[in-house]
Amino acid sequence: MKVKAPGRINIIGEHTDYNDGYVLPFAVDKFVEVSIERSKRYEFYSKTIGEVVVLEKFERLGKWSDYVTGVLVALEKRGYKTEPVRIEVDSSLPMGAGLSSSAALEVATAYAVCEFFGFEIPKLELVKIAREAEVEFVGVKCGIMDQFTAVFGKRGHAIFLDTMTLQYEYVPLELSGCEFNLVDSNVKHELSSSEYNKRRQECEEVLKTLGKKSFREVTFEDLKVLKGVLFKRAKHVLEENERVKKSVEALKRGDFEELGKLLFQSHESLRDLYEVSCEETDFIVDYLKGEEGILGARMVGGGFGGGVIVLSRLGTFERLKDRLAEAYRERFGLEPSFHSIGSADGVHRV
Ligand code: GLA
Repeated sequence: MKVKAPGRINIIGEHTDYNDGYVLPFAVDKFVEVSIERSKRYEFYSKTIGEVVVLEKFERLGKWSDYVTGVLVALEKRGYKTEPVRIEVDSSLPMGAGLSSSAALEVATAYAVCEFFGFEIPKLELVKIAREAEVEFVGVKCGIMDQFTAVFGKRGHAIFLDTMTLQYEYVPLELSGCEFNLVDSNVKHELSSSEYNKRRQECEEVLKTLGKKSFREVTFEDLKVLKGVLFKRAKHVLEENERVKKSVEALKRGDFEELGKLLFQSHESLRDLYEVSCEETDFIVDYLKGEEGILGARMVGGGFGGGVIVLSRLGTFERLKDRLAEAYRERFGLEPSFHSIGSADGVHRV
């Protein structure tokens, strides 16, 4: 039995999903495939990495298999006991590019195991199980966006998700004459997970200072009370939420000029207020800014490296790729990678 789960790209709404905010991601047409069969022992094989991991007990090894094991542990905690299986993983998703290959692996594993053992688990519960694997087993305190998108993705649509209520709306991705691409900076700075967890703490600090329970209760008026880093973090979250709502409207109207501007603004805010971008992704965004046919660009995902999402008029990106690669190479001595991005359905059986 085989299933596949998509990666995700976030059009806008970065670092808002653990702050009860809004996000606008879609599932991408690049996948993690998981096949499962009975075995004498728990044995995981990654075709991409070319490695077999055999487990005597469910333990953390500090590598890719933790995403698989974490899901089995989360299921077991809920009373869904499995028996030894061999799980084979294959992937067309670039790792570390900000497309959330880890969430795709968690969701594919959770779905495959449920189908295989006949566990009937509602979709939203599946999202929570996959996220729990990442937060509790792997140890990255991520929000819910990635796993939610890998489960609920719908081809031809973005998901406007309220991460507080988990209510969502599918927004048609009618790109008429435009396209999304991803530039992978091919850097992942050491800081990424420690700084990620630090941003979460800072946001909790904001709430404590203001005496509020949820970021949803924080107003622009409250910003006056905050200083320094806390002011900057809070300002980003409030304004990013506004940008998400405006982006949804722009997408519905087919106003890609406006959507593009919002992407650029989001990047500036992630760079200056939230401080999660880096030289490499800043360089890519700056390079693209003045180019004809480029409507918008910004870093995606947690930050400190990874990818840049680019919104452009059809065909224009293709024409400047080589020049961008050359400038990037010259500046950093590194090769960027390019991926065209289409939409896809959430996890399903193959
Ligand atoms: C990572 C996390 C998400 C989200 C983004 C930032 O991708 O997994 O939950 O917080 O960073 O928007």
